[in-house]
Amino acid sequence: MFRRIKIFFIIVLLILVGSTLVALWLLPGTFSAKSTPPEWEVKAARFIRHLATPSHFLKMTNPVPYSSEALREARHHFADHCATCHANDGSGKSHMGPNFYPPVPDLRAPAIQAMADGELFYVIHYGIRFTGMPAWGKGQPEEDLDSWKLVHLIRHFPDITPEEIAEMKQYNPLTRAEREQQEALDQFLSGEDVVFPEHHH
Ligand code: HEC
Repeated sequence: MFRRIKIFFIIVLLILVGSTLVALWLLPGTFSAKSTPPEWEVKAARFIRHLATPSHFLKMTNPVPYSSEALREARHHFADHCATCHANDGSGKSHMGPNFYPPVPDLRAPAIQAMADGELFYVIHYGIRFTGMPAWGKGQPEEDLDSWKLVHLIRHFPDITPEEIAEMKQYNPLTRAEREQQEALDQFLSGEDVVFPEHHH
């Protein structure tokens, strides 16, 4: 009887030690955002998210009529709120876009363009948990016309022109260096003596 209990505890101990070693072997690097997710993980995540999108969103059509005015508003909005991560042209090639896990996708890519309007809206309104993509929706989805304008812009990204991108640059948030330059310029224009700060990149 005593022998049996002893063997039982030895087995439990071996399992504990074994699983700790396996965990220590697997864990290092597990939470690093440095790596890129493998293709199967990207596909699986996209499929699961598609299943997790409430079906009435999948069927929604954009309530905002397509117009150059709606597109212009969306460009300004995107340049101010989204381009830090997604870049003005939607390519995801921003300063930090490629450093997320998963990285910021190219919004012009077929996988994104194949999504339903309502699914894009859902992503913008509710964000994507466990990723860098924040939720932007306030209040009721039915009232969120700004996000619907952004859906028009995402559809337009494959055809965006250099002129449109140049215009968006004026709406990008300023860095500290740019703000200091701007302040010095304002002081100079109001007649004060100023030393212009150096511009670093
Ligand atoms: C802080 C960084 C950040 C900001 C700001 C941001 N996003 Fe994202 N976005 C991400 C990341 C990271 C992903 C990738 C998530 C994934 O692959 O699951 C993403 C994914 C997306 C997608 C693709 C969804 C898909 O199914 O793959 C869309 C569309 C999108 N963002 C739109 C926007 C819009 C519009 C804004 C501005 C209102 C915005 N994002 C602002 C980080 C950001």
